[in-house]
Formats: sequence, C-alpha cells, structure tokens
Amino acid sequence: MKLDTSKMGRIELHDLVGTAISPLPVVFISTVGKDGTYNAAPFAFASPVCSRPPIICISIGHRGGERKHTLKNIEFSHDFVINVVDEAILSRAVQCSADYPYGVDEMKENGLTAVKSDLVKAPRIAEAKVNLECKLVQIVDILEDYKDGIGLRGLVMGEVLMAHVSDDVATPEGGIDPRRLKAVGRIASGVYIRGWETFELKARRV
Ligand SMILES: Cc1cc2nc3c(=O)[nH]c(=O)nc-3n(C[C@H](O)[C@H](O)[C@H](O)COP(=O)(O)O)c2cc1C
Repeated sequence: MKLDTSKMGRIELHDLVGTAISPLPVVFISTVGKDGTYNAAPFAFASPVCSRPPIICISIGHRGGERKHTLKNIEFSHDFVINVVDEAILSRAVQCSADYPYGVDEMKENGLTAVKSDLVKAPRIAEAKVNLECKLVQIVDILEDYKDGIGLRGLVMGEVLMAHVSDDVATPEGGIDPRRLKAVGRIASGVYIRGWETFELKARRV
C-alpha cells in the first residue's frame, strides 16, 4: 500500500503520523491563566528535543478557531508543568481533554490535586509520579488546516528547571526507574499501551 498524503484528509493524516510514530507519550500539562485559574490537558505530540539544556517540545493545536487554553496560558505565564501519566491517572488525564470552558480547573473537576510548583507559576499535579517544571523557551507557529479553517498550531519548547520524582520510582543514583514508573503510551486515537515488557539492546561498536 502507498499513501499519497496530498490525497488524504485531516483525520487520516493525523492517524498516519500519530500511529507511524508511536508509541507516543501522554504528557499531562498543567498551566495557570491570566485570571489565576488552573488548567490541565493531555498531549501526545510531544518529545524531548535536547539534553543540556533539557528541552522538551509539545505541539498544541487549535479548537474552534482559537488557541487551546493550555497554549493561551503558556503565552501568559511563560511556563508550564509536564506531569507524567501512568495507568493510575490515565482515565482522569484523558477526561481532562474534554471541552471544558476556559476558567474551569480540569484537575478539580476530575479529582486531581494541584500543588504549587517551586520555580514556575503553573501548578504541578500531586498524583503524577514525575513532574517537570518548565520555562518557555520558544513557540514555533505552524500553519495547519483545521475543520474550522486554517489556524496556527504552537510548537512549544520548554526547558526543564526542576524535576519532582516520587520516592517509589526514584533510583538510588538519582534517576527514574522506568519499570516502576510504568508510564503509558498512545498508539492511536483513543488507544493506549502498557509498554512495561522491556528488553535491552545496544548498537555494536564499529
Ligand atoms: C491522549 C491524548 C493526547 C492528545 N494530544 C494532543 C496533542 O498532542 N495536541 C493537541 O493539540 N491536542 C491533543 N489532545 C487534545 C487535547 O487534550 C484537548 O484538545 C484539550 O481539550 C485541550 O485542553 P485545553 O483547551 O484546556 O488546553 C490530546 C488528547 C488526548 C486524550
């Protein structure tokens, strides 16, 4: 089968890139708005970009002709928190993707606890085993064809200033044990994976 992307619709293209490149992470972003209200939503089009400085990018689209609340808040506060999603909080994180009106705190609505961060204005989510406090580095605008017309997607890059790692997933060396963290992945729209069966493999020296 060959798929000519110029002949494909928006949803098919979303499914193509979001499954060909998978599993994707489920990152749960918490932010604060101009009016002081908290916001949280899950995002899967996300990736580490570099290590030193530790920069992570998240791709945030449009909805109803407007920037999503997460992006509006990041543009205001210039920061955000990435909360790692394990199975214990996946369903609450997914529910936070529903179209809550601006100003509604999705964490409160879904039984999650927002706690103050150390270095950024955005709150972190207590139930997540790992929180990464990030300061905004850059937003790259990308023109995208949405169901309600052309809009600007924001590719947000943030530098991790502080990581909170819960004791039950921390290693004695000061790292994160992925086998205990048990982060879930997204392999297609509404389909997730428990990627906890691991094996080790390294490139041969040449
Ligand atoms: C698992 C999952 C992954 C998602 N990934 C993205 C993403 O990468 N980019 C995006 O714009 N929306 C993504 N969404 C949709 C947003 O979570 C949704 O539009 C949400 O309402 C945005 O909230 P906000 O307006 O409070 O920022 C995803 C939803 C789910 C359930």
